Amino acid sequence: DAVELGEYAHYMLKEIHEQPVAVADTLEGRIAGGKILTQIFGVDAERLLADTQAVHIIACGTSYHAGLVARYWIEQLAGVPCTAEIASEYRYRDPVVREGTLFLTISQSGETADTLAALKLAKERPYLARMAVCNVPESSIVRESALVLMTRAGPEIGVASTKAFTTQLVALALFSLALARAKGLDDERYSDGVRQLERLPGHIAEVLKLDEEIKELAEQFIGKHHALFLGRGTHWPVAMEGALKLKEISYIHAEAYAAGELKHGPLALVDEDMPVIAVAPNDRLIDKLKSNLEEVRARGGVLYAFVDETVAHGLDAARVVILPASGEIAAPIISTIPLQLLSYHVAVQRGTDVDQPRNLAKSVTVE
Ligand code: G6P
Repeated sequence: DAVELGEYAHYMLKEIHEQPVAVADTLEGRIAGGKILTQIFGVDAERLLADTQAVHIIACGTSYHAGLVARYWIEQLAGVPCTAEIASEYRYRDPVVREGTLFLTISQSGETADTLAALKLAKERPYLARMAVCNVPESSIVRESALVLMTRAGPEIGVASTKAFTTQLVALALFSLALARAKGLDDERYSDGVRQLERLPGHIAEVLKLDEEIKELAEQFIGKHHALFLGRGTHWPVAMEGALKLKEISYIHAEAYAAGELKHGPLALVDEDMPVIAVAPNDRLIDKLKSNLEEVRARGGVLYAFVDETVAHGLDAARVVILPASGEIAAPIISTIPLQLLSYHVAVQRGTDVDQPRNLAKSVTVE
């Protein structure tokens, strides 16, 4: 293989540790003087952003989770209606496309069959334009898209996506902020968002120092058969991504729920045999999440919380892992890292094939 493992035992671990550089590379040359350069999305991007009245995001797997996070950003910052949908569903229904809708695909490989088919279908619908966030420059999805923002994660070998996901989030944050600016986002929120992105590589490097702590925590999961991941807001898709990573490589059945849905079903499953993992930044939803977590504790659930340093105090959990406070846009990116490390260490300790999990492919080019 052209890509060397170096000091790492697996590609997945190497790729997790490459994230500060991959994120810095994805930001490189895209911000100048505290502003996101609009031309990075392609020619005519300035006009297209100004004309965008809605966004339809289409993707599969981990890339779909990145789209779900972006949906919160686009509506919150730009005030533009946004949906995020799985490509295999989108391509077989009859979506209604209003005037001024931008079609946005997200794909690491640029070759996923369902995403590519959805993109081809979108050509026949009255979209304003087609845009792609992708990691492979010469891919089919890039070729078929008018606007493109490349993630610069470099080759990703591990089947479980790590650095491709966080760089997708960075690209989508750049897009959300640029769109928001075109829609009149105020100076303060805009500059704060840009600063959060600029500080990300340093914050990610800080979180990677938790490796040993998380490795030890992973021992608690070795004999488990099920796990429940909880989050709210942008951290709900982060929880979904955490659950996907754990099931993909450790074969532990894992599910993610929006914490507010706990009472509508999953609470019935909670007992001492099913660990509950909560990801919580310090945002306006923290108090609501804390009360959800108390419900878990009251049912004998064993709770592991990954929280921002400003809210860790007084949290009643079996284990609290503290993350740096990074701001509302950076937080879902930061919170993803410990969940990647957790699934990696659980899988290694269970002795599975981390880089090549059974039955899965890196790129799904057939339906
Ligand atoms: C496969 C991979 C995932 C990936 C998904 C979508 O399932 O194992 O890691 O998220 O395909 O792939 P794409 O290349 O379109 O992002």
